[in-house]
Amino acid sequence: MDNKIKLLGKKREEALLGGGKARIESQHKKGKLTARERLHFLMDEGSFQEIGMLVSHRSTDFGMEKEKYPGDGVITGYGTVNGRLVYVFSQDFTVFGGSLSETHAEKICKIMDLAMKNGAPVVGLNDSGGARIQEGVVSLGGYADIFYRNTMASGVVPQISAILGPCAGGAVYSPAITDFILMVENTSYMFVTGPNVVKTVTHEEVSSEELGGANTHATKSGVTHFACANEIEAIENVKKLLSYMPQNCEDRAPALPYEIKNELREELNTIMPENASQPYDIREVIGHVIDERSFLEVHKDFAENIVVGFARLAGRSIGIVANQPAFLAGVLDINSSTKGARFVRFCDSFNIPLLVFEDVPGFLPGTDQEWNAIITNGAKLLYAFCEATVPRITVITRKAYGGAYDVMNSKHIGADMNYAWPTAEIAVMGAKGAAEIIFKREINAAEDKDAKWKEMELQYSEIFTNPYRAAERGFIDEVIEPAETRVKLIHAFKMLENKVVNNPRKKHGNIPL
Ligand code: HXC
Repeated sequence: MDNKIKLLGKKREEALLGGGKARIESQHKKGKLTARERLHFLMDEGSFQEIGMLVSHRSTDFGMEKEKYPGDGVITGYGTVNGRLVYVFSQDFTVFGGSLSETHAEKICKIMDLAMKNGAPVVGLNDSGGARIQEGVVSLGGYADIFYRNTMASGVVPQISAILGPCAGGAVYSPAITDFILMVENTSYMFVTGPNVVKTVTHEEVSSEELGGANTHATKSGVTHFACANEIEAIENVKKLLSYMPQNCEDRAPALPYEIKNELREELNTIMPENASQPYDIREVIGHVIDERSFLEVHKDFAENIVVGFARLAGRSIGIVANQPAFLAGVLDINSSTKGARFVRFCDSFNIPLLVFEDVPGFLPGTDQEWNAIITNGAKLLYAFCEATVPRITVITRKAYGGAYDVMNSKHIGADMNYAWPTAEIAVMGAKGAAEIIFKREINAAEDKDAKWKEMELQYSEIFTNPYRAAERGFIDEVIEPAETRVKLIHAFKMLENKVVNNPRKKHGNIPL
């Protein structure tokens, strides 16, 4: 027995070394942690249970049978994060550059299958040179096996991808299907074709960082939801994200114990600028409404005209979607619509109630928007809200104009409770534009056209630049003092706690893509 145990110990030791000390050093020199160090920071101490530590590849071409490393470039298993079960894989760049072999893929598939059967999130720590070149098509097949599982798991268990090194070629499509992507500045990149191919095909000269680094994807493409300064920050964000999510689609969003106290927030009564065309930061409103410092903003640097993220309200996890008047006046455009839609769909998939703050002048005009399909893309946000069955509440702080009024979680498309501040303006369009169109004849016939225009603008504004027409119709459930927002929301979400809505049975809807 002793000898057998010694042999096991030796094999384990070997596996713990991955591709060996020199490669570990080189990984550190690049400013990267090893696959095991990452797991150490992610998982609760002592909770990680490894599966498949001794798996090795089966390939024999190019002398590969002589070069084997136990684990084959990926560490897989399960454990807890803040006490809750999570399945995880962590690619080991020190073994064949973390490249994906047939067996490497099988290991990932195994934990994904377990996650599906047992209803718990999957976290992927990606650091890989892509398909194992020596293996050819079996490696491509392995990727496809993962993509298929990513898709089947979508909406069943949360999936999070941290990109902590290269992620290129078709390999990008596994993270792309998962719910959230996190990248690290200067050490991670994602692209379908790298700088060399780009140069050959389009003659553009671009660095890896510029083409597919964290900041590029956080600001330009929106591919990543978080750009983190270092790996520790990325791992901390993964943990925070998990803390707002249920374990699976049958589970409830987590709630911390909370006792209702004085929930009035007088600061909110002075947040709104005197002049309706002046901006203010919607994050300030959010900050005063939610539990202190509980906001985790998602997609912070992309489409900043809409703010989305997780928060807690009286301890309960909620998802927030808010127009941002401090950026492009909070207008809806292609990027903000897709950003909002994706977030709404995540929350709805995982039973996270939605809170919407609305201050939107409408959709962004222009050829760029029209030619790039603001029609199709704006429809995504509309569709996402329409089909969402979680508790849904809207607070109109100021503007709710045009189609954007309908889209931003109006009562008509299924919102449960809609509040408006006394500063709300709910109309087809702003008073100035409206007066110009409907009183054109009167304005043209007047001696002082400008004076007439102002007079008619005022008339339109008196009727519509307020929340009361909508409240008379019941489209707004209550006009509230801003200071009362938090207390109203706490009660309303509590009232909606057991909401059940069943959309018509179907195979699946056909969201405009
Ligand atoms: C096998 C690989 C590998 C790969 C790297 N290695 N990528 N082995 N298959 N895909 C090995 C290297 O031989 C080296 O081995 C070690 O990993 C580290 O690689 P380096 O090149 O020394 O590291 P670095 O300079 O940091 O460069 C990393 C890299 C580069 C940018 C990722 O290795 C690279 O360009 N690799 C190839 C990337 C690629 O074309 N992959 C296929 C993409 S297509 P030693 O023994 O020296 O440590 C794809 C299709 C997916 O992935 C399809 C899904 C549908």
